[in-house]
Amino acid sequence: MPSTAFDSRNEDLIQMLTQSGQLKPFYELNSPMRPVVDIKGKGQVLVLCANNYLGLADHPEVIQAGIDGLKEYGAGTASVRFICGTLECHRDLEERIAEFIGTESSLSYVSCWNANEALFPTLAGPDDILLSDELNHASIIDGCRLVSKKVEKQIYRHSDLSDLEEKLKASSSKACRWVITDGVFSMEGDVAHLPELIELCEKFDALLVVDDSHGIGVLGETGRGTPEHFGKLGQVDIVTGTLGKALGGAAGGYIGASSRAIDVLQQRARPSLFSNALPATVAYSAGKAIEIVQKQPQIVKRLHKNVETFRKGLADLGFECPESPTAIIPIMIGDEAEAIKKSKALFDMGVMVIGFGFPVVPKGAARLRVQMSAALTDDHLQQALDAFARL
Ligand SMILES: Cc1ncc(COP(=O)(O)O)c(C=O)c1O
Repeated sequence: MPSTAFDSRNEDLIQMLTQSGQLKPFYELNSPMRPVVDIKGKGQVLVLCANNYLGLADHPEVIQAGIDGLKEYGAGTASVRFICGTLECHRDLEERIAEFIGTESSLSYVSCWNANEALFPTLAGPDDILLSDELNHASIIDGCRLVSKKVEKQIYRHSDLSDLEEKLKASSSKACRWVITDGVFSMEGDVAHLPELIELCEKFDALLVVDDSHGIGVLGETGRGTPEHFGKLGQVDIVTGTLGKALGGAAGGYIGASSRAIDVLQQRARPSLFSNALPATVAYSAGKAIEIVQKQPQIVKRLHKNVETFRKGLADLGFECPESPTAIIPIMIGDEAEAIKKSKALFDMGVMVIGFGFPVVPKGAARLRVQMSAALTDDHLQQALDAFARL
């Protein structure tokens, strides 16, 4: 039986969230993720908040590949990989990922969250220092928290290269200096200053890690992510990313690195040793999603065009959105209750855009976050802009 303290603590938090208008609604979808979804109790709604950047979540070939994987290998491996759970399709997927993101090798996980939790505690040595951008994703933060206490950790100001350089200079006695950044920052929609980061890492002999979850499939002419966007494919030491956004939208994550680093992760990472592998159905559908991007780079071009059109449309309506080539378009509101109110008004007009407040973003920096998709037609974009105009 839970204690009274336990019950009342939970009750208090939910009451507080409800009364302050911060309680997050959980919509129930009666359809696959696509530009227009069917929401229980609401009906048809245009989605501008999914990570379905390339519209592959309900692509017929992605669905068929998932069915093929399920038929070929069943529901799952019923085991962790080193015991009896590595399938041919895991290896195929990992080869495809490595080739796509420009790393020597790669290893898949059930999520990028899991990948980030595997990476830092396994590969950081006791005399290392981890230097992490202050706006890095929560999974990087938690991954770094899992690292041994002997490893020093510091946070540098967001994309502040001088602050980072100071910290690199001051840590010359360390065995290995790690610089860790998102490729595309998920709440700001800005891009890491990758060429400068690569240069700094070369100068200080530091290791560069980029989590490209929001860059993969989105940036670069052929969708290979932030490194391709800057012409730096193959120049990042370690790349992590998700298969749950542009690349099929189901689940799964990966680490791309040197073959030896991947060998160590396979041998030592706790999520690799103690957690089941990606289900074959997901490995198949994600592999197919990458194949589609490789064969049809015009999907990426369509996304870039939609991003440009929508950013311009919002600017023409007087909304202030920071300049960026990414598919994440934050519209700053400030007050959290106001952001939620605006999100609800858009929802009432049949357009789904989520308002984000604390603790996802700092207090007073609440915002609406639009996310673009290649699957949105010109009519969809106009419908959304009309709703913003009425807002
Ligand atoms: C930068 C970044 N890293 C990691 C993740 C986690 O990805 P996954 O859903 O595969 O765990 C996300 C998801 O929001 C993300 O934005």
